[in-house]
Amino acid sequence: MFDAQTASPIFEPLTLPNGAVLPNRLAKAAMEENMADGQQLPGEALRRLYAAWSKGGVGLIISGNVMIDPTALTGPGGVVLDASQPLAPFKAWASAARSGGGHAWLQLSHPGRQVMKAMGQGAVAPSAIGVQIEGASHLFPTPRALEPAEIAAIIERFATAAGLAEQAGFTGVEIHAAHGYLISQFLSPLSNRRTDDWGGSLENRARLLLEVVKAVRARVSPGFCVGVKLNSADFQKGGFALEDAAQVVRWLNDLPVDLVELSGGSYESPAMTGAPQDGAINPREAYFIDFAREIAEVATMSIMVTGGVRRRDIAEQALQPKDGRPGVAVVGVAAALAFDPDLPIKWRDGQKLEVAIPPVTWKKKAFASLASMAVVKVQLNRISEGRRPKQRVSPLFALIGSQLATARLTRRYKAWIARREP
Ligand SMILES: Cc1cc2nc3c(=O)[nH]c(=O)nc-3n(C[C@H](O)[C@H](O)[C@H](O)COP(=O)(O)O)c2cc1C
Repeated sequence: MFDAQTASPIFEPLTLPNGAVLPNRLAKAAMEENMADGQQLPGEALRRLYAAWSKGGVGLIISGNVMIDPTALTGPGGVVLDASQPLAPFKAWASAARSGGGHAWLQLSHPGRQVMKAMGQGAVAPSAIGVQIEGASHLFPTPRALEPAEIAAIIERFATAAGLAEQAGFTGVEIHAAHGYLISQFLSPLSNRRTDDWGGSLENRARLLLEVVKAVRARVSPGFCVGVKLNSADFQKGGFALEDAAQVVRWLNDLPVDLVELSGGSYESPAMTGAPQDGAINPREAYFIDFAREIAEVATMSIMVTGGVRRRDIAEQALQPKDGRPGVAVVGVAAALAFDPDLPIKWRDGQKLEVAIPPVTWKKKAFASLASMAVVKVQLNRISEGRRPKQRVSPLFALIGSQLATARLTRRYKAWIARREP
């Protein structure tokens, strides 16, 4: 589409609302690595992985889930950032992630009810409604509804982690409000049945997100970027819908937020990997782009779209207006950057224009989604060990390997958390 390399809109810098400049329009979207060390801290593996992405030329690196509460982890190898953790490992991680000259943001997350029972910590959520996945619901604890004082403590935890991220040398944070994690659970009427100020109307359901953004913004300096990852929809009947996302973005316009990344789905309906429960999107390329264009129309912050981008011309098209609707400002790439961390440089130089990722076509979508993530994690592990990604990986073996690693890391996590508890 764009003949001259320099004409590609991908490599135009972007000035965010707070004045920070991303060197290009490609972002490494969050991929939970499950690679923390025995103290749930970033170590050599994460430094090597992030240095590889930074060297590969991506304009913005968004970390995988970084957990703000040591008792609520999306996975047992998760990095925990709170006031009790030392900052030096985060400083070293930030420096590796910025070594190539791009931005590096931490994704701050609280999983709410989407935690495994095996972690032994129970779960909290807006309401006492458990995760429903055919054949797998029993793996998740039934959550306890949060008390208002506990909600306030969680808001404070997000702010604390953001302040620490800035001190460590990261250039921003992204608040995870998508994929069925805690803030997304509050946004969805399916998981939030509260009748107090935190549930009911959309305004009440969005309160947690808006209060977290305000608290974070108040804790960091104006030049530090604050982003939000939001579902364009949950892709579940009666769930958070596109009109709701547009209204939430209008509220976020005023806070201010620098970037909203649009994704979709949850553990129950894994639309983020192109496999929603309700079949409302095709697992085609850039599958959230039409929603993102609609949201971009009402947004004053920069909009980023993530999901299904493997080809340069698809990324270029997403950045361009279409049918009278605006393009997005940033394109997020996750899996393709695990299969090739040098992709941005290769796209810039016209060397390799697409990444082939073998699809996992299992019938049960939740399991197919887990298996495709396990295949990607194989690549992340290889890069973190200084090896090259491997094109052909068996999804079944990858899934078994990832389950075994999770079991081992769960034992280690339980020992760690037991040592911390009084
Ligand atoms: C292994 C793996 C781990 C992921 N972990 C996260 C995460 O920690 N936070 C998040 O917001 N999204 C996470 N995602 C979703 C990605 O950010 C992205 O939305 C999704 O993979 C679709 O983009 P892609 O087609 O470019 O891979 C993960 C995806 C994969 C494959």
